[in-house]
Amino acid sequence: MGLRAAVLGASGGIGAALVAQLATDPAIERVYAGSRRGGTAGGPVQPFRFDLRDAGSIAAAATQIGKEGAVDLVFVATGMLHRAGGPAPEKSFRAIDGAAMAELFQVNAIGPAVIARHFLPLLARDRRAVFAALSARVGSIADNRLGGWHSYRASKAALNMLIANFAIELRRTHPQAIVAALHPGTVDTGLSAPFQRGVPVARLFSPETSARHLRKVLDALRPEDSGGLFAWDGERLPY
Ligand SMILES: NC(=O)c1ccc[n+]([C@@H]2O[C@H](COP(=O)([O-])OP(=O)(O)OC[C@H]3O[C@@H](n4cnc5c(N)ncnc54)[C@H](OP(=O)(O)O)[C@@H]3O)[C@@H](O)[C@H]2O)c1
Repeated sequence: MGLRAAVLGASGGIGAALVAQLATDPAIERVYAGSRRGGTAGGPVQPFRFDLRDAGSIAAAATQIGKEGAVDLVFVATGMLHRAGGPAPEKSFRAIDGAAMAELFQVNAIGPAVIARHFLPLLARDRRAVFAALSARVGSIADNRLGGWHSYRASKAALNMLIANFAIELRRTHPQAIVAALHPGTVDTGLSAPFQRGVPVARLFSPETSARHLRKVLDALRPEDSGGLFAWDGERLPY
């Protein structure tokens, strides 16, 4: 029996690259690819629709996927740093806007928590299974030297805490499961596009390169790593 994976955020730069790679992996039997727009089915890829701001859409997707059996990998590839006409990273506390901050928390922390609420129960109990969410190194409180980007940093720190919490809780029912937050590196996507100046070319990954690195990291994680934040090169980052 092949492995079954669900990617939420399949329309994103990193999410799309991951879906494409999983789809050509002979070990993978099914890839559920979730996004706001949906998509077309092909090969092992089965698209579904969800919106992070709509818990009902997440619950419905999980119910549908769960009917076909347990899942080996749930990968949350959604996230937000800025939106045209909406939130933008704050350089100072003077730029803080409650509504913009709430939007980032909704997308970066609350949405993934609601996904966990409905998708953690789908993880296989009788074998290794992974729930991973794209976080960011800048969400590490211990690693914070530059400051700024208040809402993004704080929402990712909240996500990291949720991941640590879910790992503790899941250990009781799913001893072989791993829950992890991931830092994908600086990746050439719409999210990072306005902020790539000054990033050395060798440090700006294509989405394909980042997805390849992240898959290696996922493959190497053990149950005792559960709850941690891991960079693209496998380094465990401090919270
Ligand atoms: N790129 C980097 O350098 C970098 C660095 C560190 C961390 N990360 C993290 O990596 C993750 C993916 O980033 P990316 O670079 O691939 O960005 P991206 O290309 O902008 O992708 C973001 C994804 O989030 C989805 N999304 C946003 N709001 C949503 C909502 N309400 N409901 C459902 N989906 C929603 C987008 O869907 P739509 O297509 O429908 O908008 C898209 O699939 C993010 O969590 C980001 O913080 C990225």
